[in-house]
Amino acid sequence: MFVAFEGIDGSGKTTVSKMVGDALREKGYHVYITKEPTENIQWTEEMKHSRDPASGFSLFFRFTEDRYVHQAEIARQLESGRIVLSDRYLLSSLAYQGAIIESAFPGRKEALKWMMDTSSIIKVRPELTFYLDVDPYVSMDRLSRRASLSGFEESEYLNRVRELYKSVDFEGKITIDASQEKEKVFSEILERIEHALMQ
Ligand code: TYD
Repeated sequence: MFVAFEGIDGSGKTTVSKMVGDALREKGYHVYITKEPTENIQWTEEMKHSRDPASGFSLFFRFTEDRYVHQAEIARQLESGRIVLSDRYLLSSLAYQGAIIESAFPGRKEALKWMMDTSSIIKVRPELTFYLDVDPYVSMDRLSRRASLSGFEESEYLNRVRELYKSVDFEGKITIDASQEKEKVFSEILERIEHALMQ
């Protein structure tokens, strides 16, 4: 089974995915934990902070290329019987790059369609994608970045990323309220995975 964890930075997905991995291992499952971006990606701080659609397209292609290679490793792990947990996957591109490149399209719907069409080369898809939903104000506070100079601009961008995360119709997406205690988020997710494993 392939499971992805999604959300804005500070949503707690990295911690929670590790907790889930540990719990599944304790129950005797073989688990492979991975993440995106992988270490193969090449991007600069400038690209990371650019809000220019051209840079957004460039990043979208880089992440897609990274994922194209990454999916082969995921497939190998799945074939050997492991549960694969990935900290970010396709939904990250739809949300983060979508929030930037959508201005180049007539609307959000068209932008999402274009990204989904381009991502048809990504054949390995998660059965479940947990989207850990949290207000950027809360997540940025968790990351203690709220007082940073770029705070306002950053939260405005993250609010659009969140809107995309919430609104996109993505197969297997389960939205979790990540403003709850980490233990609660963790047990809700573990329960869902165990239920899916029983099917
Ligand atoms: P980061 O957390 O800096 O990576 P690391 O944990 O290795 O330091 O990178 C994650 C950032 O990448 C995060 O802000 C979201 C962004 N991202 C995208 O914009 N699109 C994507 O497709 C992916 C996978 C990540």
